[in-house]
Amino acid sequence: MELRKIQDADIQKGTRVIVLADFDVTLREGAVEDGFRIRQTVETLKFIAQRGGVLRIIAHLGRPGGKMIPALSLKNIVSSVAREFGEEFLFIENPLDAGIQGKLAHEPRHLFFENIRFWPGEEENSKSFAKMLAGWGDIYINEDFAVSHRAHASIVLLPILIPSFAGLCFTREVAMLSRVLESPEYPFSAVLGGEKIETKLALVESFLKKEAVVMVGGKLMNTLLAARGVSVGKSAVDQDFLRHPNQFVLTHPRLILPHDAVVARDIESEERTVKASAIAEDEIIFDIGPESAAKFGQVISESKMVIWNGPLGQAELKRFAEGTIAVAKSIQQVKGFTVVGGGHTVSSLHKYGLTGNITHISTGGGAMLEFLAGKKLPGIEALQNKNVNILGQVE
Ligand code: 3PG
Repeated sequence: MELRKIQDADIQKGTRVIVLADFDVTLREGAVEDGFRIRQTVETLKFIAQRGGVLRIIAHLGRPGGKMIPALSLKNIVSSVAREFGEEFLFIENPLDAGIQGKLAHEPRHLFFENIRFWPGEEENSKSFAKMLAGWGDIYINEDFAVSHRAHASIVLLPILIPSFAGLCFTREVAMLSRVLESPEYPFSAVLGGEKIETKLALVESFLKKEAVVMVGGKLMNTLLAARGVSVGKSAVDQDFLRHPNQFVLTHPRLILPHDAVVARDIESEERTVKASAIAEDEIIFDIGPESAAKFGQVISESKMVIWNGPLGQAELKRFAEGTIAVAKSIQQVKGFTVVGGGHTVSSLHKYGLTGNITHISTGGGAMLEFLAGKKLPGIEALQNKNVNILGQVE
């Protein structure tokens, strides 16, 4: 997959470079909880600054839905970015104000714009909105692989208005994930957990078709166990799947469901480990059990390629993180190609100090899943060389 890359961009002293940056991080009491995405992006910011480029940073935080929400203001993270980057930014509260643009369009300091999703034009993919953004820069760099599955103005329109290129981390993401799609190595295994199951179910099917062994936890596990007639008590399940179960997935011999689980009446109550067949009506699954973690570990240890997205349980709490930690440790022992992604999964790796010896830790959550399911992502398409005649396509 050929991308236009930042190394080919004409960045000179004073070139105004708009960077779509990945600063969609979790804040706890106003502080950045896990700075992984910031650190990944800063590599590209430094690359630009070393060539004399001046930055105009566009990013989003959370899902404000076109409204100004103070808790989702990027003011909350600009100092963390400046610390990593080593230089200050001038914060622009309203980059859509023509007067401000008139005054500051050629400002030589690095600029950092307020959360781009505060304006409805971003998610509505508005042409006038994209044109306004384009007025701030000479070149566009996309360093937010994690939004590649969204057709928003700063992702798909802005890159056809000015010369556009993929950032360093973006390029690495596409290269690493393409290897999984194009050259799977066998034995090949995948671990899928977490909450959002719709995209993950598609991926379970796609990995099974690629001859992978697929192990599941989280809401996927609850749903697939329930669909096989196992009582999962009050655990969250996907009702759509239960109404229309995918029989190919459900009965596949290479699908491995946990056969024990850590359960409790609620998150405050004392937990117990039980066989999956012995979950009481009023209990909730909070993690896979130790026997299942050992089984997953055995499959992983025999693999040459392992992909993991989604914690196996409620891993932000240590007492429900044992399955997730065990899987992470097994993946660290693999001598082949390993990829881990998804916001909560990657935070767990950082929280429990388990990032070593993993080939690639992806910044992508949904984008990684859709890419691996073989979908065409609009954010990637916008940076592909086939768009040679890119300028002036938006009237
Ligand atoms: C992510 O966190 O995966 C990306 O930032 C995309 O966020 P979104 O799902 O709100 O578009």
